[in-house]
Amino acid sequence: MASSSSSPLLSRQEKQGLGWMEWLKGWSYLIYEVLFQKITARHLQNPLPLPSLESVTCIVTGSTSGIGLEMARQLAESGAHVVMAVRNPTAAHDLIQEWQNDRSKTCLLSIEVMELNLLSLDSVVRFSKAWNSRLKPLHVLINNAGIFSIGQPQNFSKDGYEEHIQVNHLAPALLSILLLPSLLRGSPSRIVNVNSSMHFVGSVDVDDMNFVSGKNKFTSLKGYSSSKLAQIMFSSILQKCLPIEAGISVVCVSPGSVRTNVARDLPKIVQVAYHVIPIFLFIAQEGSRSALFAATDPQILEYCMALKADEWPVCAYISHSCRPMNASTEAHKIQTAHKVWEKTLDMIGLPSDAMEKILEGKEVQCKYEAH
Ligand SMILES: NC(=O)c1ccc[n+]([C@@H]2O[C@H](COP(=O)([O-])OP(=O)(O)OC[C@H]3O[C@@H](n4cnc5c(N)ncnc54)[C@H](OP(=O)(O)O)[C@@H]3O)[C@@H](O)[C@H]2O)c1
Repeated sequence: MASSSSSPLLSRQEKQGLGWMEWLKGWSYLIYEVLFQKITARHLQNPLPLPSLESVTCIVTGSTSGIGLEMARQLAESGAHVVMAVRNPTAAHDLIQEWQNDRSKTCLLSIEVMELNLLSLDSVVRFSKAWNSRLKPLHVLINNAGIFSIGQPQNFSKDGYEEHIQVNHLAPALLSILLLPSLLRGSPSRIVNVNSSMHFVGSVDVDDMNFVSGKNKFTSLKGYSSSKLAQIMFSSILQKCLPIEAGISVVCVSPGSVRTNVARDLPKIVQVAYHVIPIFLFIAQEGSRSALFAATDPQILEYCMALKADEWPVCAYISHSCRPMNASTEAHKIQTAHKVWEKTLDMIGLPSDAMEKILEGKEVQCKYEAH
């Protein structure tokens, strides 16, 4: 497990966690989003019409269920070559068969399956090496796979990290950095992170991202919301440090509140309620629109570059209604974001100059690579 050093560089204001006002504002926004998302997104068609994506290659993590499944299918149906990066390859092959059966035999979808288990950083390294070795361009990486183990006790991966932080933040961060050579080949290219409005009620303690010091009592809600906030902070520094010439945009999106398997760990009684009150919830196809928009809309690239030119502290964030939105006040704490960047690189076993080295075409060794 990574050690916890203190962070003297943080100002007193940055050291303070989420204040009561911010916490209340966060919950108010979440309630507003759930109650009104169908109204605020009523201008959108469902499914979201996509441009022709011939000669575009997309990797979608966690595409065997929910929002990821919808994205993989729609991207492939629009002509993209889709790589389903999943922990259950059999389920992915079954899905492809099903989608293909629904179409005429002459219209073959271009989809492949590659194994990726985000609970193992070694699996992330193996996946990235296998993909990069093809020397092919990658145009879109969608970090979609995620967990919210509601009400579950604190669990750790075999790498020693709390599972929410590993699956929702650390593993996607490692994947994004290691796939930079392929994203450069596909430039202009994009990294789309399926984030969550739950980040509004999260805070990140850079000295205790694993919730092990005893200072912050772990709950699944804290684990989930802080992992999503850490993802925004890391993405913001990544976008800031990537040179404009690299042509790689980094976007976080909120899918809205969506009826998927994400609620699989809810107690039975709450689960019934969750599925009985669908009037407010998006179906997965509706929930996939913000990420598909971020992955395919031509204006996103301009938008990301404008934020970068303005030195805006947070990376582009797209709401469930496919509109740019402002991430939480916590996400704007730039010093904390820099610490999250440094700490994350340390936790995922990369040197602090990993990104620069990769952009120069140099090899970078990850501590978690199995020999
Ligand atoms: N649903 C919502 O209301 C909501 C709201 C905000 C944000 N989100 C975010 O949306 C994203 C997609 O979630 P969803 O709602 O579509 O949930 P979902 O139906 O549970 O899908 C999650 C996907 O992630 C995969 N996954 C989980 N752990 C993994 C691991 N260790 N390695 C590789 N893949 C793994 C799952 O694979 P298996 O099929 O093998 O389990 C599944 O394909 C997540 O990042 C979630 O945080 C969802």
